Order: sequence, then structure tokens, then C-alpha cells
Amino acid sequence: MITHRPRRNRKSAAIRAMVQETQVINSDLIFPLFLIEGKNMSSEIKSMPGIYRFSSDLILKEIEACMNLGIYSFALFPNISESLKDKYATESYNDEGLYLKALRDIKKYFPESCIMTDVAMDPYSSDGHDGIVENGEILNDPTLEVLGRMAVAQAQAGADIVGPSDMMDGRVGYIRQELDNEGFTKVSIMAYSAKYASAFYGPFRDALDSAPKFGDKKTYQMNPANHREAIIEAQLDFEEGADFLMVKPALPYLDVIKTLSNNFDLPIAAYNVSGEYAMIKAAAQNGWLDGDKAMFESLTSIKRAGAKIILTYFAKEFAQKNKI
Ligand code: PBG
Repeated sequence: MITHRPRRNRKSAAIRAMVQETQVINSDLIFPLFLIEGKNMSSEIKSMPGIYRFSSDLILKEIEACMNLGIYSFALFPNISESLKDKYATESYNDEGLYLKALRDIKKYFPESCIMTDVAMDPYSSDGHDGIVENGEILNDPTLEVLGRMAVAQAQAGADIVGPSDMMDGRVGYIRQELDNEGFTKVSIMAYSAKYASAFYGPFRDALDSAPKFGDKKTYQMNPANHREAIIEAQLDFEEGADFLMVKPALPYLDVIKTLSNNFDLPIAAYNVSGEYAMIKAAAQNGWLDGDKAMFESLTSIKRAGAKIILTYFAKEFAQKNKI
């Protein structure tokens, strides 16, 4: 005789829905947006079907469309023209530059939106790295000064959350101190705590033309083989004053998401990165899998692993297709 028949709880759609443990909702999602110079400009990213770089006027329209669908949070990334890049990423705190101007506009028209900025040198760096480069080495402490200045400029322009994605040591504490010194005690920090040196960032670097000009990012981003080190990184960010801890990428690192959610009471975020999006889109375009189902399943697994917040290029599409 079989006493326990777990299939009873799967016997109808109504029961399956009733016992479902994890439900992704629109407010869990942050939609990354790519900004370019110009007016009325949009260009699709080849390796990310359905995702566009927008000029700032069209970004406003995109944000409005997303908010009408129930997506209120956005992560903004700039595509900076090569001629404005330099060794010290000085364009990153230019008040009249593309990024800070667009940020001010967005917060002016949509004060109820939540905008997370990117604190990192690579989009503005002639070396394509997240830190200052000297003799082929990425300098840690001098980079902090650039990051601090960038974060304060973004806070001044209206950032709700600053997101250091650079992986320099001590940057969360440094940025917190700089923000507080300038009176921005209400600006949050989402720390890219466990950010791995991953092959899955390829399409993002296409979108921003931000690939490193030499070498790789392995002296600052984490080794994909390491799990325990993620706890050290998260602990430091927690102690330095982070408001959210993030794991990046998401799907290949669900174990890391789980560990951080078991060990820290701050909200855990996960970045479902460009390559994860590209893989599903490419396979769907070839008819090799059902793209919608793969999207729902991926986002649900990331949340099930322990991420309350998911940064994903699927955000808008999810909101359009989500039936709940
Ligand atoms: C760099 C940065 C990267 C991403 C976000 N910020 C790429 C990198 O580290 O080279 C990747 C996001 C994605 O792939 O979707 N500061």
C-alpha cells in the first residue's frame, strides 16, 4: 500500500496553484536599461533580441510603458562614446554628461520610479576596466576615490540606489561614507557582493562597448569555482553598510544565492545577466525551447533559491505575459 502520494497535490491546476511556494511578482523585478546619446534614437542589441539602447527621450517613454505594466525599478547603464573615455573615467561625474542629465530627467518626470545607478569605471574607462590601470595592474584604493565621486554625483542627480558593480575592496564602506558626508544618508547601496568573472557578461559588453581592452577581470571579480569566498564578500558588504546583497550571474550561481539568503537577513538580489537572457532568446528563436516557459521557470528558480529581487532583461516581457 502507498500511504504518501505526493501526486495528489499536483492533480489539478487549482491545487497546483494553491500549493505553489514561489511566485515571482512584478515588484520583485528591476529592469536594466541602456542609454545612448542622441534624440529619438533606439538600436537593438544584436545579442539581446528585444532589448534596445535608447536615447534619453525614448528612455522616458520606455520607463512610462514599464510603469504602466507594474515595473517601477530600473538599473541604468550608459553607452559612452569612445572619445569621452579616459584613464580615470572622469566623464562618470560630469554633471552635463549623458548619464547624469538623463538621471535628472527621469527623476523629474517619474519621481515615483526607483532608479539604481551603476557605480563602475568600465563604461567610461579607456582601458575598459572597473578600476584605474597602472602597468597592467588594477589599482584598488585610488579607484575608490573615483567611485566615491561618481556615487555622490549620481546621488545629487537623484539616484535612489547606487550599485557598485566594480568589486574593489572596501568600496561599499567608502561610498557609504562619501554619501553620508554629503548628506545623502537616504541613498541606498545595492552591493554587487558575489560578482563572478563570468563568460555570461558578453552581450552586455556588446551593448555598452565596454569590454576590457586587455586582459580579463579575474583579479577583481570572483573565481566561478568559489563558494565560501562569497560569504566573506557578503559579510564585508554587510558590515560596510550595504542595504542589499547581490549575486551575479544568477542561474549558474543558485547555490550562492541560497547560501547568502540563509546567512544574511538583508534582502538578497540576483542579476539574471545578459548571457542568461541571450541563451534563452537564441534557443527560442531556433525553436529549440519555449522561450516564455523558460523565462518563467528561470525567474521562479532564482526566487526559489532565495533572491527576493531579480535584475532581469525579461522584466518588461514578464510583466506583459504574467497572468497573476
Ligand atoms: C561592469 C558590469 C558588467 C555587468 C554589469 N556591470 C559587466 C562586467 O563586469 O564586465 C554585466 C551585466 C550583464 O551581463 O547583464 N561594471
